[in-house]
Amino acid sequence: MASRALLVALAISSLLLVPAALAFAPKGRADLDHDEEDLSFLDEEDNGAADSHDDGGLGHYADESHSEADKEPEYADQDQYDAFDDADYGSHDVSPTIDETDVVVLTDGNFSDFLAKHRHVMVEFYAPWCGHCQALAPEYAAAATALRGEDVVLAKVDATEENELAQRFELQGFPTVLFFIDGVHKDYPGQRSRDAIVTWITKKIGPGVQNITTIEEAEKILTSDSKIVLGFLDFLVGDESQEFSSASKLEDGINFYQTVNPDVAKLFHIDPNAKRPSLVLLKKEAEKISHYDGQFSKSAIVDFVFANKLPLVTTFTMETASEIFENPIKKQLLLFAISNDTNKVMPAFQEAAKLFKGKLIFVYVEMDNEDVGKPVSEYFGVTGDVPQVLAYSGNEDAKKFFLDGEVTLDNVKSFAEGFLDDKLKPFYKSDPIPETNDGDVKIVVGKNFDEIVLDESKDVLLEIYAPWCGHCQALEPTYNKLAKHLRGIESLIIAKMDGTTNEHPRAKTDGFPTLLFFPAGNKSFDPITVDTDRTVKAFYIFIKQHAAIPFKLQKPAAAAKSETTAGAYFVSEKSANPDPDVKDEL
Ligand SMILES: *[C@@H]1O[C@H](CO)[C@@H](O)[C@H](O)[C@H]1NC(C)=O
Ligand SMILES: *[C@@H]1O[C@H](CO)[C@@H](O)[C@H](O)[C@H]1NC(C)=O
Ligand SMILES: *[C@@H]1O[C@H](CO)[C@@H](O)[C@H](O)[C@H]1NC(C)=O
Ligand SMILES: *[C@@H]1O[C@H](CO)[C@@H](O)[C@H](O)[C@H]1NC(C)=O
Repeated sequence: MASRALLVALAISSLLLVPAALAFAPKGRADLDHDEEDLSFLDEEDNGAADSHDDGGLGHYADESHSEADKEPEYADQDQYDAFDDADYGSHDVSPTIDETDVVVLTDGNFSDFLAKHRHVMVEFYAPWCGHCQALAPEYAAAATALRGEDVVLAKVDATEENELAQRFELQGFPTVLFFIDGVHKDYPGQRSRDAIVTWITKKIGPGVQNITTIEEAEKILTSDSKIVLGFLDFLVGDESQEFSSASKLEDGINFYQTVNPDVAKLFHIDPNAKRPSLVLLKKEAEKISHYDGQFSKSAIVDFVFANKLPLVTTFTMETASEIFENPIKKQLLLFAISNDTNKVMPAFQEAAKLFKGKLIFVYVEMDNEDVGKPVSEYFGVTGDVPQVLAYSGNEDAKKFFLDGEVTLDNVKSFAEGFLDDKLKPFYKSDPIPETNDGDVKIVVGKNFDEIVLDESKDVLLEIYAPWCGHCQALEPTYNKLAKHLRGIESLIIAKMDGTTNEHPRAKTDGFPTLLFFPAGNKSFDPITVDTDRTVKAFYIFIKQHAAIPFKLQKPAAAAKSETTAGAYFVSEKSANPDPDVKDEL
C-alpha cells in the first residue's frame, strides 16, 4: 500500500514538475588555471561514493538529473508510465534479429523536412545507453514493420547526438515517444509493446470521425458514450469535415461524430435549424452541454474541446491528472477535503466553478484517499483535515495560494477573482527552521531560504534532495566531505534542502538531486546549475571557478602522498579557524 502510494506520488510529481530543457553540456571542464593545481588529495577515498548506482528500489524512477545522463544508464529513464509497468522491461527475451529497416533515422538536419512531408510520424527520442530504450527498440521496429504501407512512419532520434531536437522538445527522460499529426505533436501515452503501438496508431490514422445517419445510431451512442463531440454539417465530406476530423485526432478521450441529419442534431441538443456547421460537446453530468460558435477550424475546435471537456469539478485521480495538467487552462483551484466533509463544501465549490468556466480548472482532492489524495496533498503541502482551497498557477511558475477562511461561495468567488487578478500572496511549504544549524552542511528549509541562500555576502552551494532518492544517498558522503574540506571558508556555504517538504521560488528542481550554485552579490539572478561530475574534486573546481568571493583552501598538514584512510587527515581545528595568512598551496 505504502509503496503504491509512493509510486503515485512519483508519477504525479512527474506531471507537476516544471519542464526543463535537457542539458547535454560537455562534462568536467577542469580547465583554466585549475589544471595546474594538485587536487589529488581531494579525491582520496572518494571513489565509489560518487558513481555508485541506485538500486534501492523506487528511488531511481524520479532521479532525473540529466547532467549525469551519459554516465548512469537508468538515470533519466523516468516517466509516469515507468512507475507502473516497469517491472517487465528487463525480462523481455527479445530476439536480436528484428529488422530495423522500417524505422527511419532522423537528425537535426533532416527532421523538419521529413515532418513536413509526412502527415503521421511517430518519433522515439532515445539515448544509446538507456535500458528502457533498448527494450523498446525491437518492439518499435516490429510495430514499424507491421505498419508498413500505412499512412504513418515510425522514426527515431538519438537525443544525445541531436541536441537541437532534444531541446526543442524539452525531453524529460528516455525514451520519449511523440506522435506528430500534421506537424503537431503529443505524447504517446501507451504501453511500449508492438501491439499497443500498432493499435494506438491505427486509431490515430483512421477516420477519427464516425458518421451518424439514423436516430437509432444516435440513441445508441447517447447511451454508450460518456463524452461526445458532434458536428452538424452540410456534408459528410469536404473541408469542414476534414478540419473536424483533424481536430478529432488531437483528442484521445472523446469520440467525435458528424451528421447531416437535423433529427440527429436535435437529439444532441443542437437546434435543427441552426446554421451549419455547428458543434456540441456533451458530457454525462451536471452542466453538461457546451455549444460551440467559433470558427470551424481544427485548432479552434481543439481548444474548445479541451476547455470544455472537464467536468465542473474534476476529481483528482491518476486518470484525470494528465487531463488537468495538459489542459490549455493552466490556473487551477483545488479543494482539499476528507471524504466526510465533501458533501458540506462541494456544493459551494461547484457553484463557484460555474462562475469561472473557461478561466480556471476546479479540482477536488480527496485527502484521505491513500493512493492519490494523500500524496497530492503532501505534494502541495496541505495538512490537517479541515477543508481547504488552494489556487495553483500551473507548472510554469508553480505558485500556490491558500484561501484564508471557510469554503463558502462568497469566499471562493472573491479568492478566485483575486487569483485571476494576481492579487494573492503566495504560500511556500517549509519544515520548521532547525534549532541548531552548525554542521558543515547547513540545513535549508522554505522559511530560512532567504536568510541563508539569498545572503548576498555568501557564495552558496545548495543540494536539493529527496529522502527516498538513491542518488542523493549516494552523493551524501561526497557532499559531506566537500563541506568538511570547505568549512573554514567564511564566504562559502554548503547547504542542503529536502525538496519534498520545502520549496522556494528560487529553488527550481527538475529531479533529485539538483545542485544549484548561488554566487555572492548576484542573488537576483538565477542560480547556476552544477553539472560537474559528483566528486569532491569536481565540485571544488566548480566552486572555485564560480565563487564571487575568491578563497584559499589550505592543504592538509599531513597530506603529501599519504595512504591514510579516513578523511581525518584534514585537520579540522585548523580549517575551522583558518589563519588569514595561510596560502592557497593547492
Ligand atoms: C537523416 O540524416 C541521417 C544522417 O545523415 C541519415 O542517416 C538518415 O537516413 C536521414 N533520414 C532521412 C529520412 O533522410
Ligand atoms: C462518412 O460518410 C462519408 C460520405 O458518405 C464517407 O466518405 C466516409 O467514409 C464516412 N466515414 C466513415 C468513418 O464511415
Ligand atoms: C466519517 O463519518 C462517519 C459517520 O459519521 C464516522 O463514523 C467516521 O469516523 C468519520 N470518519 C472520519 C475520518 O472522520
Ligand atoms: C550575475 O549573474 C549573471 C547571470 O549569471 C551574469 O550575467 C552577471 O555577469 C553576474 N554579475 C556579476 C556581478 O557577477
